[in-house]
Amino acid sequence: MCGIIGCISKKPVSDILIDGLKRLEYRGYDSAGIVVLENGVFRSEKTAGKIADLEELLKDQVFLGNTGIGHTRWATHGTPSTCNAHPFFSCDGSVAIVHNGIIENYQEIRNELIKKKHRFLSETDSEVVVHLVEDYLKTHEPLKAVRLSCNKLEGSFAMVFMFTDYPGLLIGARLYSPLVVGLGKKQTFLASDVPAFLRHTKKVVYLKDKEVVQINKCQMKVVDFRGKKKDYQIDRVKWDIQSAEKEGYAHFMLKEIEEQPEAIRRTVNYPHYSTLERIRNKFKDVHRVVLVACGTAWHVALASKYAIEELARVPADAILGSEFRYAPPPLDKNTLVIAVSQSGETADTLAAVRCAKEHGTFCMAICNVVGSSLTREVDITLYTYAGPEISVASTKAYTAQLSLLTLFAVYLAKAKKTISPKVERGLLNQIKTLPDKIKQVLSERDVIEKCAEAYKRVNNFMYIGRRNNLASACEGALKMKEISYTHAEGYGAGEMKHGPLALVDGSFPTVAIVLKDRVYVKMLSNIQEIKARGGVVIAIATKGDKNIKRIADWVIEIPNVSEILSTILIAVPLQLLAYYTAVKKGREIDQPRNLAKSVTVE
Ligand code: F6R
Repeated sequence: MCGIIGCISKKPVSDILIDGLKRLEYRGYDSAGIVVLENGVFRSEKTAGKIADLEELLKDQVFLGNTGIGHTRWATHGTPSTCNAHPFFSCDGSVAIVHNGIIENYQEIRNELIKKKHRFLSETDSEVVVHLVEDYLKTHEPLKAVRLSCNKLEGSFAMVFMFTDYPGLLIGARLYSPLVVGLGKKQTFLASDVPAFLRHTKKVVYLKDKEVVQINKCQMKVVDFRGKKKDYQIDRVKWDIQSAEKEGYAHFMLKEIEEQPEAIRRTVNYPHYSTLERIRNKFKDVHRVVLVACGTAWHVALASKYAIEELARVPADAILGSEFRYAPPPLDKNTLVIAVSQSGETADTLAAVRCAKEHGTFCMAICNVVGSSLTREVDITLYTYAGPEISVASTKAYTAQLSLLTLFAVYLAKAKKTISPKVERGLLNQIKTLPDKIKQVLSERDVIEKCAEAYKRVNNFMYIGRRNNLASACEGALKMKEISYTHAEGYGAGEMKHGPLALVDGSFPTVAIVLKDRVYVKMLSNIQEIKARGGVVIAIATKGDKNIKRIADWVIEIPNVSEILSTILIAVPLQLLAYYTAVKKGREIDQPRNLAKSVTVE
């Protein structure tokens, strides 16, 4: 939530800031702003709206400053207005800040600062920090002033400061919100995420919680909130800027849907087994698995519960990150908590992991972002290699997570000796065939687009499935809601007759997941019940199924695949149906209203 960037360069930085903000726009797009230091004074422009609106404001202006910071906002405190847009400035105009996160005790600090005659111009929590730093600057140098301010703040933050009295200096600080340093040849960056500066450098330092970084021309110093000097590690980003570009696609979402075969191939071909083998004893003794995640990642958890229970014969639960710490399940040393997150920055998932760690529970992450907060809090991380996911609606991360967790379920079953080597080999071979099968599903896009055209005006969709594909139904409905703004519900097919069937009529289509699996006959009956009440059925079915063609209004086919792996293939038509519906409704595909990727607030 919110993207921040800072840059010190030998050349003017305003274009670099704008380009960086565009690449962070997935984190929020309610307002945007930049400030540069020009001849000893701040020059700033900010506006409600998107980066494109800010660019419009800047188009006839020449900004010359070589040091600057920028922000793209997802509003929490205060409306998405120009006055609440970052950067914010101290009363004397000598300090500027951009902030991502929430300052929970801002009201208390604001009251104290008002007593000291500070004037506030916005309704935001962020503005208090710049005044706090201004106060400390009366008696301390900038690094200490920022550090002392951090110690007073509660909540979560990643922030970058600049100062008129210290040209060429940027100070960043973080607590539970991401902040990465980019070390270029002639320029240094601070940003919420790597794509912001990837076209300039691949050398990065992932700051840790409770660290403050001072960047001065080409020098960098890291201290903790108590002022103790900290070592840091320089990493090299493995992917390149093309992965974070649209490359001719109309939307990132479509590009990311089409990238799924490669994302899965990279993920399942990585030698995860050797990582797991190092702590085989840990897995041998696991007697309960608790999967925790939010949103789409929670649907991965829900589907994976079935794979783990079926293969490893271990009870598994999928718990929402936002619920976990308020109702923690029984946790002990033989419980394995698996946190699933694309970004590794989701506040509720992180809070759940912290709660599990307090109970002394072993935690594993399934994560897509190297160096993210989650990966630092858990005992072990298995990475998905989906590449950067830019579209707010998660697609390739979802199927990569599902593939990886299926692989893990097979491993756990092997460690617990609940499957034979032959079954294990068979499953691993099937996992390897997924990329080609997904390509076959992608070739169904024309019929899916026609289907979207036919129902683009309906106000409601029902999605039904059973077992692991109940999770698929929920995920299909979520995709439809979030990008097309059409109401959709995911339901257990057998539950329809307990209430929701009352909703069904010709204007309320049902997307039914009906594969040749153990619940096939039951699904056919549920579909008949809907048809008998005048409902429209869009079936996602196994290729060559003649029965379903006779009953359903539309049939989208997927290749035959084992039940455990079917969630992965099913995801693709559901994503495409939501995508084409949203396109036909003229929606903002990659940046749906009111949302942002990486939900770093609770
Ligand atoms: C929906 C979507 C969200 C995320 C959720 C968790 O398409 O992307 O529901 O899945 O915000 O995000 P991560 O996986 O980053 O923890």
